[in-house]
Amino acid sequence: MPRRRFLITAALPYSNGRLHVGHIAGAYVPADIYVRYLRATGADVRFICGSDDNGVAALKTAREQNRAVEELTAHYNASQQRDFAGLGIEFDIFGGTHQPEYVDIHERFSQDFFLKIHEKGLFTKRTAEQLYDLEAKQFLPDRFVRGTCPHCANDQAFGDQCEECGRSMDQTGLIHPVSMLSGTTPELRKTIHWYLRLDRLQSRLSSWLAGKKDARACGAVWRPTVLNQSLGRIESEGLPERAMTRDLTWGVPVPLDDPDAKGKSLYVWFDAPIGYVSFTAALCKQQGEGADGYAHWWKDPDCKVVHFIGEDNIVFHAITWPAMMLATHDSDSLQGKLGEYQLPHNVVANSFLNIKFPGKEEEKISKSRGSAIWIEDYLKSFDPDPLRYYLTAVAPEAARTAFDLDDFIARNNGELLNALGNFFNRTMTFVHNYFDGKVPPAGQRDEQDGRQLERRIQARDRAGEELEACHFKAALGEVMALARAGNAYFDATKPFLSRKNDMAACGRAVNVCFQTARTLTALIAPFLPFTADRCAGMLNLGEGYRNWASAADELPEGHRLGPTQLLIKKLDPKEVFGS
Ligand code: MF3
Ligand code: ZN
Repeated sequence: MPRRRFLITAALPYSNGRLHVGHIAGAYVPADIYVRYLRATGADVRFICGSDDNGVAALKTAREQNRAVEELTAHYNASQQRDFAGLGIEFDIFGGTHQPEYVDIHERFSQDFFLKIHEKGLFTKRTAEQLYDLEAKQFLPDRFVRGTCPHCANDQAFGDQCEECGRSMDQTGLIHPVSMLSGTTPELRKTIHWYLRLDRLQSRLSSWLAGKKDARACGAVWRPTVLNQSLGRIESEGLPERAMTRDLTWGVPVPLDDPDAKGKSLYVWFDAPIGYVSFTAALCKQQGEGADGYAHWWKDPDCKVVHFIGEDNIVFHAITWPAMMLATHDSDSLQGKLGEYQLPHNVVANSFLNIKFPGKEEEKISKSRGSAIWIEDYLKSFDPDPLRYYLTAVAPEAARTAFDLDDFIARNNGELLNALGNFFNRTMTFVHNYFDGKVPPAGQRDEQDGRQLERRIQARDRAGEELEACHFKAALGEVMALARAGNAYFDATKPFLSRKNDMAACGRAVNVCFQTARTLTALIAPFLPFTADRCAGMLNLGEGYRNWASAADELPEGHRLGPTQLLIKKLDPKEVFGS
């Protein structure tokens, strides 16, 4: 079989703040698990991320903090990279749409994209009315205007969305708008923008998305939330044209030789997903094959592109971004030909994560209210794997869930430590204490031994199926079930008794436990990479231990173990986050 190929992306985080557990649960831990799993199956994978530097988000924070936007975004790009590395989220490249090293290549790709769509006649140039701040002498981005929501009368609504009633809107619909730049009342002025003809791409987009309902036929399991939101949007509102340019100078300049394009940038949601492509090109360049190597990943139907995102990004990744790619194609066919952008094989979105502090109600994660757990703070006191474990075990795959501090500790101590840690610990102890650190002979196995050995294969196969479907929580459940089965087998075969009068029986059980531990080491690796490495050290497994296909192969008697290590630390509720 030819080697499978995947290009995996994780949403480009805005470089205007630090990362908290909610970000990590949404797109990054799941993407990293998927990448590690795919690699374990022998797939050729590139894992792409970087910061989303352009647009209003960074500009607004830079203004508030009185910093240069270049300095702000460079600072957070670096801090986010440290957070990811600390959690074992290992991208092949972490670029940044406006970082010095990447800004040129990113601009080139973004402008090429824009020009290609322009050439195909899929932009309309139109005059629109927008709020203009007379004092600041500039058009106001949606996030820079507040006013009264026409739907619910909330007087603190933003120009793009009312956080009270959740409705999205047009800034010109706000009643009594106020500029957040100067506090003055802005006036309506005419401005010119380029609108993507989503209406002309609508029917192709909806048939493409409809095809994703049938997992068997399309070969990918799309989450219902993703299909409901995207198809739902098309069915309820249709796809009107959308402006893809902005009156801003922080961004990618509009590449048209047209006086009306002066001082305008591409909309940040236009250039950001192109970052996935431009960073792939930068990676190819770094690896010595030249930037054109990106086409091997993006324009070849043999490679599958999978985007990992949070739920607020669904419409952009399942509608706008595919529309942009379709708009560059030469034909009307759905799946691009070789040499054309391939639409995503899957778009995997998680919901948001709430937070629950001890003795408090569950609440939304909020930086301003201080209800966030920052990765930087977490990593000062804790190992990365317990967090990866917890965020997978309670992952908001279908609906919102909460990071509950008490539950985090309870699961670390009750599941990771009691089930997994304990199983390795007792197995290792027996091999070291009674078999001189060498795997004892398998002997004459009975039915119970056979069943336990078979369970390892089942766990590997079931976890693999769930992982293929991006059901990470279920996959982890299968793996942990094997650890518990290992403990149950140990309890049932009682090597602690047989070691006193029947060393052959004792060795037989310990052999089966060892084989189980070996399988577990491979199966936990996508989820708990640091713990898996320690397990592999203890069991003295070679580099290839993560290989999925051989995860249930047995090791021969006489195999010598490595030194024992502490696998999982017990957490004391009192130490955790000062609570
Ligand atoms: N920065 C956006 C967010 O945090 C995500 C951008 S994803 C990309 O919501 F596709 F646009 F890159
Ligand atoms: Zn409202």
